[in-house]
Amino acid sequence: MFLGSLVKMSYKNKVKKLISKELNVKNVVLFSSCRNAFYFLIKSLNLGFNDEVIIQKFICDSLPIAVKQAGAKSILVEVNKDTFNLDIEKVKSNINENTKAIFFVHTYGNSIGINEIKKLCQEKGILLIEDIAHAYGSSLNGVKAGTFGDYAVYSFTKQMVNFGGGALISNKDVSNVVELRDSMKVGAGLFVYLKRFMASLYETRAFFVSKLLIDFVSGSDDLKLTNVLDKHNHCIGIEAFFAYMQLKNIKKVIEKKKQNYLMLRGKVKTQRMGENSSFNYLSFFFDNKDLRDDAISNSFLFLPVWKNSVISDNLAFVPNSVDFSRKKLKKFVNFFNKYNKKGSLK
Ligand SMILES: Cc1ncc(COP(=O)(O)O)c(C=O)c1O
Repeated sequence: MFLGSLVKMSYKNKVKKLISKELNVKNVVLFSSCRNAFYFLIKSLNLGFNDEVIIQKFICDSLPIAVKQAGAKSILVEVNKDTFNLDIEKVKSNINENTKAIFFVHTYGNSIGINEIKKLCQEKGILLIEDIAHAYGSSLNGVKAGTFGDYAVYSFTKQMVNFGGGALISNKDVSNVVELRDSMKVGAGLFVYLKRFMASLYETRAFFVSKLLIDFVSGSDDLKLTNVLDKHNHCIGIEAFFAYMQLKNIKKVIEKKKQNYLMLRGKVKTQRMGENSSFNYLSFFFDNKDLRDDAISNSFLFLPVWKNSVISDNLAFVPNSVDFSRKKLKKFVNFFNKYNKKGSLK
């Protein structure tokens, strides 16, 4: 019992130290998920219902929900069609005296566009919060994702397999966020962890197992917990252990994922990513929704993306896997081109 809690404690500390050393940041606070970290961060900022947080439209629903539940207003803004990250012009036209923070998502691990957003935040005195759920290990011109802004939030279930877990990362004083988190100590049931584990398989080489279950057992939203804000706030020891073991080796994983992306680039329409992205997903941009839908319904591997953005109808994605062979990647290229072309001829 005592040994068990010692192990748990030490991996929580180990993962905090690992992230803090890698990003050269003072504070890493663990949570039950990324959305949970984001929720407590917004809550700690004491924003009122007129205070606005800009978030990209191409996003997991749980993040605008977190803002709302924390008592503020999220303003959903379009992304750039090439980078899938916030469109700077659209951001500018949505800024007003109520804008208190901009939430920059490094979509699929891509950091392009953050410097422009950072400059704007500095000029206007607005907080910059980064979402590096897909982007641990990504950098742009030598600056690491998670170190551009005032705060960053991270998920332990997107670049790895895990039961849950997330982190808030910052050089600022975060003691009030910790206090808030600890004031609400609610545990989660075993089922929540199992669901999260299945959902996180979705992000890895075993995503087909998760996909099977998502298709078979329940609606994808339910299994992926897209709309749900956690009722428990703490990262548990085993989540920290899994995160530590996988983050330790992430550079090698990213290098292989980069090779996969480079194999596709130029052969299919895909996201424009920086050379040092983390390449967490491979995306395929179809000419229109019918072609995309046709492709998805004829492939087990191509998946639909988040709804509600200008790119949503054209896109399908595949979680990028270190196990993809050249043959497999060529199959993706052929499949994409076949479906895109087939429809164009209609
Ligand atoms: C970019 C991004 N940020 C945050 C989240 C939420 O992460 P978590 O499940 O750890 O709350 C997701 C989930 O899909 C995501 O894709």
